[in-house]
Amino acid sequence: MPSLLILNGPNLNLLGQRQPEVYGKTTLEDIRSRCMAHAEGKCALAFEQSNHEGTLVDMIHAAKGTHDGIILNAGAYTHTSIALMDAIASVELPVVELHLSNIHAREVFRHKSYIAPVAIGQICGFGAAGYILSMDALLGHLRTEDG
Ligand code: DQA
Repeated sequence: MPSLLILNGPNLNLLGQRQPEVYGKTTLEDIRSRCMAHAEGKCALAFEQSNHEGTLVDMIHAAKGTHDGIILNAGAYTHTSIALMDAIASVELPVVELHLSNIHAREVFRHKSYIAPVAIGQICGFGAAGYILSMDALLGHLRTEDG
């Protein structure tokens, strides 16, 4: 059974209270429960959040040899973090870039992603449902990769 890591970056601990008109009313704990339920019988799943760039880098490093792929909502670090990009390139694990909002329909500074060049693909704009879509996308990718 494959093992996935869902990694959430800064401010995502505030989901549900934070700009609900942009990010929805679902809390990160609700999303975690939905993902855990969706994982049942399909994959092992770890679900983490940190507001700290270095901690996210450490978690990506630790995923090598522990998990088969990562779903990463890097929050605002998406648009700034060469360190996260380098960490992903270093561990050579498949990464799905995820955002609740459609970053391409928002401010211009959100159109740039340092994660996109090292991700297998990007899912954005589907709110909390994007987490489930990302799990299915990554599991599908891992199945195809295995032949
Ligand atoms: C986000 C989009 C980012 O631009 C923003 O900084 C976030 C959340 C999203 O899930 O839509 O914190 O990653």
